[in-house]
Amino acid sequence: MPLPAPRLLLLALCWLPAAALADSALSPARQAELETLLYQDCGSCHGMTLRGGLGPPLPQSRMNAYDRDGLAALILHGVPGTAMPGWAGLLSEQEARWLADHLQHDTPLDE
Ligand code: HEC
Repeated sequence: MPLPAPRLLLLALCWLPAAALADSALSPARQAELETLLYQDCGSCHGMTLRGGLGPPLPQSRMNAYDRDGLAALILHGVPGTAMPGWAGLLSEQEARWLADHLQHDTPLDE
């Protein structure tokens, strides 16, 4: 009887590159929607230019204090006991990771 392990390994090898590519797989249209969401919906608390309001400013320097997946988890689950809501009902994990990556590298605010 063949051992299952090599087959699992093969599966893992096939899956890994797919997972690595997943973040770039959002369609340009969806990326544009997420960017709109960031500045309008998130911006309703964090400011339309992310400089803060009810919520704190979200400069790249501060966003890079988080690792990307931690930041994505914060976006999905919110900050309990504060006005920061969780977005898991609206965003997939992949979309939250895209937003986290965007906050860390692609916003105009970096101080
Ligand atoms: C209803 C208001 C509100 C909305 C909408 C909102 N936030 Fe927040 N957010 C807050 C508040 C308030 C905090 C501060 C929580 C605390 O005291 O730790 C916060 C904290 C954060 C933090 C941590 C900031 C830091 O300095 O550590 C991040 C990142 C963040 N929000 C991202 C987002 C993103 C991305 C969205 C949109 C998907 C969003 N927020 C929408 C109110 C909001």
